[in-house]
Amino acid sequence: MTVHVVPAPAALVELAGPPLLLGAGTRLLTCEAGLPAATLLAEVLARATGHALEVEVEVAGPVPGALRLELDDDLPVPVGGAAGHAPGLAPRAEEAYRLAVAADGLVLHARGLLGLLRGVATVRQLVELTGAGAWIPAVQVHDAPHHGWRGLSVDVARHFFGPADLEAVVDLLWLYKLDVLHLHLTDDQGWRIDLPSRPELVARSSAGAVDGDPGGAFDATQWAALVDYAAARGVVVVPEIDVPGHVNAALHACGDLVPGGEPTAQYEGIDVGFSQLTAGLPATSAFLGEVFTDLAAMTPGPYLHVGGDEVLTMAHEEYADLVGQAVEAVRDTGKLVVGWQEAATTAPAPGTVVQVWDLRQDPAPLVAAADGGALVLMSPATRAYLDLKYDATTPLGLEWAGHVDVRDAYDWDPATVLPAVPATSVVGVEAAVFTETLRTRDDLMWMLLPRLAALAEVGWTAPQARAFDDFRRRLARHPALWEADGLRWHPSAQIDWVG
Ligand code: ACM
Repeated sequence: MTVHVVPAPAALVELAGPPLLLGAGTRLLTCEAGLPAATLLAEVLARATGHALEVEVEVAGPVPGALRLELDDDLPVPVGGAAGHAPGLAPRAEEAYRLAVAADGLVLHARGLLGLLRGVATVRQLVELTGAGAWIPAVQVHDAPHHGWRGLSVDVARHFFGPADLEAVVDLLWLYKLDVLHLHLTDDQGWRIDLPSRPELVARSSAGAVDGDPGGAFDATQWAALVDYAAARGVVVVPEIDVPGHVNAALHACGDLVPGGEPTAQYEGIDVGFSQLTAGLPATSAFLGEVFTDLAAMTPGPYLHVGGDEVLTMAHEEYADLVGQAVEAVRDTGKLVVGWQEAATTAPAPGTVVQVWDLRQDPAPLVAAADGGALVLMSPATRAYLDLKYDATTPLGLEWAGHVDVRDAYDWDPATVLPAVPATSVVGVEAAVFTETLRTRDDLMWMLLPRLAALAEVGWTAPQARAFDDFRRRLARHPALWEADGLRWHPSAQIDWVG
């Protein structure tokens, strides 16, 4: 049997020898620094195999048949890696790992905890279950990511997805070695994070959602717990407050943001582009300052996302003024800025990340922004929007940018999708799932799986090492992983599913 690791590692050799058998007596050993990764491995192995392994720390000497996770400051890093890198995210060497499995034991090495977490995800995918028990095939793996930014953006504003749903999403990000969870926390339909300076936002604008469905919001404790849960799996949370458009929830909660002072009505539809902040109102700059300052205080990660997309009701001058105020508020907190691609028209400062989503827009502002030192994150809807239908028969999802089946999500290169943007500016890839038509965890997972695995390989594996036919063969065996965690998935006809 051949192994089926996704994303494909930089180097993987299947050995001819017998596998490592896992049983009740299998020992799991690590050093102090590796404890969180070993604990995670014990948890996922217990779920998969029924064997609860105890983690033992600082056990010297050879232990036949053991799983051992250790640090190695000098671990060589596979050659390669994309030309561009986002500051604030881990350098490639920190995600690198080396794994050796044989009948007499498993050894996983990395320079730090992050690399061990990536290696443990590979181990989880290597575990095979048969009637006779659990085993790991004899392999050698030496691995590191191609792109540094490998994300998923989830819209929790159109429909609310709370802590338990997002923990299940983080588990998937970890399994596929994605490292950024971007949360679209505010939009016309709802405000989903409680900020201490502005309690009225959640008090008045969190109850609703599209079609009158129930809403919700994160309180500070739930938010901190989610951020910690993600960090423990090597995932950075990037929160987005979308301004200066997509703001009806704010205008509904705060009448002083509306010319005339009257709060707007709650909105439960799915139109875009109709709401806006107003540069001329005195309340607007205080609002921008307070919300981004609060958000920064609740965010250990390096980035805040200011939105900036689809503002159809104002002149460029007012747009640039408002985006500029949001950006300044973020920079005052010491955080780095992400904005959707329209923000490229505001002469972003060097190091600002602009996120491409709509390939129909003129690329000239992006090229100029990249020339000025901005960095580019690739989420072209035709490849990376996992709320688009798989095909014309898909009951959920939207079609504004066509259909995205598994091969569309897989067969592209973030560094060349916009040829005029230099590869040195491209920091990675982010899938996105907007939730106008998605109400439940099952809906969400059914849109993510299997396409998220394809985007994960686009991010992790070098383009010259990727081929759809090889990916199809490996992906075909992944439903066992999803079903073990109770996740719904879409059986795309492009894959010959096994089992
Ligand atoms: C977007 O899809 N409006 C970023």
